[in-house]
Amino acid sequence: MTPHTRSSKLKFRKYQEDSKKKARTRRTQKILAWHSQERSTQRTRSFGELFRIFLGRLAPYRSSMILALGTLTIATILALIPPVVTKFAVDQVFNGEPLPEAVIRLVPGSRDIPKTPVDQLLILVGIVVVVSVLSTLLGITGRWKATQTVKRLQSSMRHEAFDHASRLPLHKVQELTSGGATSLIREDAGGVADLVFAMIYNPWRAIIQLLGSLAVLAFVDWRLLVGAVALFPLIWYTHRTWIGRIRPMYRDIRLQRQEIDSHATESFGGMRVVRGFARSRSESSRYVTGNHVMLRKEIYVWWWARGVELAWSLLLPMASAALLWFGGKQVIDGTITTGDLVMFLAYLAMLFGPIETLANSATMFQTNLAGLDRVLDLVEEPREMPDVEGAREIASSQVEGRMTLENLGFNYPDSDMPALEGISFEVEPGSLVALVGRSGAGKTTCCNLVARFYDPTEGRILLDGRDIRDLTLDSYRRLLGIVEQDVFLFDGTVRSNIGYGRRGATDAQIIHAAELAAADDFIEALPDGLDTVIGERGFKLSGGQRQRLAIARAILADPRILILDEATSNLDTESEKKIQQGLTELMRGRTSFVIAHRLSTIMHADLIVVLGEGRVLETGRHEELMQSSGAYRRMVVLQSENKE
Ligand SMILES: Nc1ncnc2c1ncn2[C@@H]1O[C@H](COP(=O)(O)OP(=O)(O)OP(=O)(O)O)[C@@H](O)[C@H]1O
Ligand SMILES: [Mg+2]
Repeated sequence: MTPHTRSSKLKFRKYQEDSKKKARTRRTQKILAWHSQERSTQRTRSFGELFRIFLGRLAPYRSSMILALGTLTIATILALIPPVVTKFAVDQVFNGEPLPEAVIRLVPGSRDIPKTPVDQLLILVGIVVVVSVLSTLLGITGRWKATQTVKRLQSSMRHEAFDHASRLPLHKVQELTSGGATSLIREDAGGVADLVFAMIYNPWRAIIQLLGSLAVLAFVDWRLLVGAVALFPLIWYTHRTWIGRIRPMYRDIRLQRQEIDSHATESFGGMRVVRGFARSRSESSRYVTGNHVMLRKEIYVWWWARGVELAWSLLLPMASAALLWFGGKQVIDGTITTGDLVMFLAYLAMLFGPIETLANSATMFQTNLAGLDRVLDLVEEPREMPDVEGAREIASSQVEGRMTLENLGFNYPDSDMPALEGISFEVEPGSLVALVGRSGAGKTTCCNLVARFYDPTEGRILLDGRDIRDLTLDSYRRLLGIVEQDVFLFDGTVRSNIGYGRRGATDAQIIHAAELAAADDFIEALPDGLDTVIGERGFKLSGGQRQRLAIARAILADPRILILDEATSNLDTESEKKIQQGLTELMRGRTSFVIAHRLSTIMHADLIVVLGEGRVLETGRHEELMQSSGAYRRMVVLQSENKE
């Protein structure tokens, strides 16, 4: 036994015991929310609730679905005809009796043809052929319409899940790790659409077929009907008991797959660290263990699912044997004809189909229903900072650019330590404010609030005297240009990455932005210039090159408020000097927040705010701060000493 199988076995045992306990005590089930860290106290939605919600999602495709179910109904009813035709063959044609008038009238022109048994048989065969072709054509139309609905619903569900996930508050997005999000959006949101078949189309066909066969049985002898119907409560009961356990298990499996996916994605993302610390083997064994546990769960739930099927498929032959016994005696007694019995046998076989379909789709849709449950958890998570009532759009041209930070206090979600406390300062329109302070002092946090990545827990930020929470989020963010401490670039060309700053930017604008950011030289040296693909997160570029692209991107956005967080930290002094000219040019007339450790770069700032442990220690211009012997002066002295 390998270590993975041993540890996965232990984990699985524990899971098994837990799930048994859960089923025994029947307490309110606590479900895992869409991210593993936080347990939702919400109960798993009931079947009825999920079904109602699903129907709601289907509403836009109502006409397609009605068409699909309509054609399906006709096709299914037509498919019920052939056994009746067989009955006429056995009872009339083979006994040399004439066919009933009703059948002959179905075939145009058949009155004139001589009614020999062979001709009559031909009529019956003709009916079977026509009915079958019609039923198949209608059936395929219905399937097509239903499939169309599935695909449309699938793309709309994925869209909704993606859209919502991308508008969640930042800390929620970070919890929804990339692999997990992919699995949630692709598998779960996509799987919801399969419910069209599993929960509506297939059961509908099964029910029509079932009711049709039962109707014919009732027509032959009502006691046959009673016999068949007596099975239903029994079937329903076995089904319900088993289903109560299967759905939670499918849900657990999906959650585990999400975790495994996200772990795999993370390992690949951090492959340099994994290799750097020679942890490839342990990463892979962690992955394998996860997969093993999932495998065991899948086999476990497979058995439960097969149990349902087994019960059903044993129950039915037993019951049908009983019905056969009853019908056979009727034939011997002469109460019903041989044809009736043959037809009855055919319908009996036709009863199996729908019931099996119902059983299968019931177990199958549990997994997709669990997916829907998880998608609903996601889309019901509140969005990031919904606009307040009466929030105003703000256009770039209306902005003067005075920013006032009033007594800001801020705690990161899930953290008790205040990251900022009592921060107050005012930035004149178009001026440059520098935030300095030790690592962890709260500089980035302060900029996060200005960028409205988070709202302050206390105090407020005013733009030209208006609380930024009274502006619509989208319009406010359009005013911003940000270069973050961790530069993020997309896998794409240099052009597309710079161009991300402004929709529909021309090449000339992109090149100009690159020049200001002192990025033009190295871009020209790249093999394909602007068209060079830079790889995921820009791994084909050096740290400084990435920073310059990010600066160019922010420049292109033509922002009113510029935030540069350690934007030039990875550059050599010469490149920094060069870029500084571009930046000075750029910052003219824009309110700018600049964070820099190298104090020489911010000496000329209009206002320097020194932060320490989330508080403002000092504010003022360089000369003023140098005169008072505070924290700033100490930092400057320290840095100049280091240089020597
Ligand atoms: N997402 C987060 N959740 C919880 N706490 C956070 C988060 N981000 C930062 N913090 C905490 O907030 C405090 C301020 O962090 P911040 O990133 O603002 O520091 P900084 O001044 O930008 O430091 P540096 O110069 O190293 O970038 C730190 O103590 C940090 O631990
Ligand atoms: Mg920082």
